[in-house]
Amino acid sequence: MDLPDLEAEAKSKIDATFYDYIAGGAEDERTLTDNEAAWSRFRLRPKVLRDVRSIDTTTTVLGARISSPVAVAPMAMQHRASETGPVATARASAATGALFCMGLFGAGSAKAVAAVPDDAPRWLQVYVLADRERSVAAIARSADQGYGAVMLTVDVARQGNRRRDARNRWTFQQSDGQVEDPNELFDHALTFDDIHWFSERSPIPLVVKGVMRGDDANACIDAGAAGIVVSNHGGRQLDGALATADALSEVVDSVAGRAEVYVDGGIRRGQHVVKALALGAQAVFVGRPVMWGLIAADQKGVEGVLRGFQNEVERVMALCGVREVSEIDASLLAPRAQDFA
Ligand code: FNR
Ligand code: LAC
Repeated sequence: MDLPDLEAEAKSKIDATFYDYIAGGAEDERTLTDNEAAWSRFRLRPKVLRDVRSIDTTTTVLGARISSPVAVAPMAMQHRASETGPVATARASAATGALFCMGLFGAGSAKAVAAVPDDAPRWLQVYVLADRERSVAAIARSADQGYGAVMLTVDVARQGNRRRDARNRWTFQQSDGQVEDPNELFDHALTFDDIHWFSERSPIPLVVKGVMRGDDANACIDAGAAGIVVSNHGGRQLDGALATADALSEVVDSVAGRAEVYVDGGIRRGQHVVKALALGAQAVFVGRPVMWGLIAADQKGVEGVLRGFQNEVERVMALCGVREVSEIDASLLAPRAQDFA
């Protein structure tokens, strides 16, 4: 798996404005850069002599089986990345047994994605819109459409200050051609009471995405959340926020097993996945690499990225002397890992 090459290929196929929208982050892009760098600051303590002829990368999310702990993060604008848009991503996820999270915002139709046959679970990401009934309606339909969980994204109290997008006069063109301003679209009054309100109205488990602190994670769980995604939105919202790799442990410790904890941001290697699990994540979500695969070669491109991650996870597990995902624990991490440059 060569993600820089794949990114370069994707970049050559789209206009610079769209490339900047995907690749970019907020302000000086410190958090964007740090997300990936932070995974590398941790070091693994591999075990040897463990008979690793056969490695099982399968695991579960909210009780549903997936082929590996690598899932597809929700992303807007997939209709601009490929003719088939999120349907291609859903098909690639189905073909590789990966969890796919459909992003509702300007990505194409949740119904078309729902029609793609799948053995693996599929989740639906929803923003709380100022017009709340639209979010409620999407959630109400989700179970009938075969989605297994609703992922509510809560880190968009304001749209991040994305300098590249401002320079490029980027606009959010929805799949129906309509242009929408996220700052007007999203509900800025959200509190934990709303998590409770939505969890009571959701026919399926609610996962909250965009949590960076243990106290917030616990308040979400008290309000009914079944899962927490430790995420800073891929460095696209608050520049200067800490890397998700550095936020994960505190959230895992605070949650203390009351809900599943997932993480995303800067995960580009199988070793990053294994480190995330060693820190206590149940699974990881990958964003931009999936977009590059989709732009480069549609369904096949996304399949290539997902299989690439699965192969790397398998090899890293073997080299770490673990045969099952459940054997990935904190003992695989070197102490005081933050001291490594
Ligand atoms: C996103 N992300 C995102 N998140 C979300 O909850 N709803 C959305 O509509 C989108 N849209 C979106 C578009 C694009 C182009 C990107 C790159 C990202 C954030 C995404 O789910 C995830 O949190 C990050 O992308 C993870 O970081 P990496 O893997 O891209 O570094
Ligand atoms: C983004 C929004 C759509 O990150 O979540 O671009």
